[in-house]
Amino acid sequence: MDETGSIGARRLACVVRARVSSAPVPTRPEPSVSAPTALPQFADIEAAAARIAAHAQRTPVVRSHSLDALAGAEIHFKCENLQRGGAFKFRGACNAVWSLAQAVAERGVVTHSSGNHGAALALAARTRSIPAHVVVPEGAVEAKLAGIRAYGAIVHRCAPTLAAREETAERVRQETGATLVHPYTDPAVIAGQGTAAMELLRETGPLDALIAPVGGGGLIGGSAIATRALSPHTAVYAAEPAGAADAFESMRRAERVTELVPNTICDGLRGLIGAVNFALLRQYDVTVLPIDDSETKAAMRLLWERLKLIVEPSSAIAFAALLRHRERFAGRRVGIILSGGNVDLDGYFRED
Ligand SMILES: Cc1ncc(COP(=O)(O)O)c(C=O)c1O
Repeated sequence: MDETGSIGARRLACVVRARVSSAPVPTRPEPSVSAPTALPQFADIEAAAARIAAHAQRTPVVRSHSLDALAGAEIHFKCENLQRGGAFKFRGACNAVWSLAQAVAERGVVTHSSGNHGAALALAARTRSIPAHVVVPEGAVEAKLAGIRAYGAIVHRCAPTLAAREETAERVRQETGATLVHPYTDPAVIAGQGTAAMELLRETGPLDALIAPVGGGGLIGGSAIATRALSPHTAVYAAEPAGAADAFESMRRAERVTELVPNTICDGLRGLIGAVNFALLRQYDVTVLPIDDSETKAAMRLLWERLKLIVEPSSAIAFAALLRHRERFAGRRVGIILSGGNVDLDGYFRED
């Protein structure tokens, strides 16, 4: 998993290995890597929506005549870049935080993430006035770190390896009794992420297709569940960087890929698909579309220019997928989840 979530983040060139299961957490057992159970249902998404309603933004759905004309489709953009914390991640984190029993919640929450999930969990914890511990590897983007701190999280630094992150998070969990909130395998997180597609479909009515980015698979998993329930004939697509195409490869092989050397500007999409998330992709027949970074960059520029909205690469990739496969979506009503807008703007506004 990596979620540095900004353009200026250093590219990872490390081997990302499959998660090894850790000790049980106070309330929700972490899903097993080999045998995922308890897949979230649509009822869980509806419950999540009620739980987070007082805290999360109901983000707008925007249209653009010029982008419709360019793509030859009717596009409905769900603007999660305008969500609190700048990404859909707040939905899942908030649902996880508000799902905890009071006595458990008081001990706090912990995660390891240098990007959008870390910030989202910190913010969600603040809405419940409980401690948030965020394990951040050395070398993380300073702007991101500042954001996590600004939301009041207790930051724990560690070496920039997945093993170091997991060990540090586990140590914090044991020392504090905090509940581990995994960024994409936690069923409460997946259900929370599904509320974005639910809102979109309730606003637009049935769509022909829905496209969302895939990293660990929390967003696409929740989106697929919501879509099947509300618009059963909608085809669900996951946009994935060609340089981190483990979900694509996993679907092709019908077996989850557990090693990857990611090479992409999409910082939030560098991690491996989770086991429970892979099961959802298969169950809901999600088609994964690998997209080159050059296509993502071009799409990001178009979104900035035409929508006047700041989106990050991990988000623009969904629109890039539509443009790349224009013929597939021609004349169709398509929903696109613009998942986040956390771009490191320091490079643009640095004083000389
Ligand atoms: C902006 C953005 N979009 C998409 C994703 C992918 O989400 P998931 O890991 O749930 O697939 C992330 C993950 O960090 C993200 O930050």
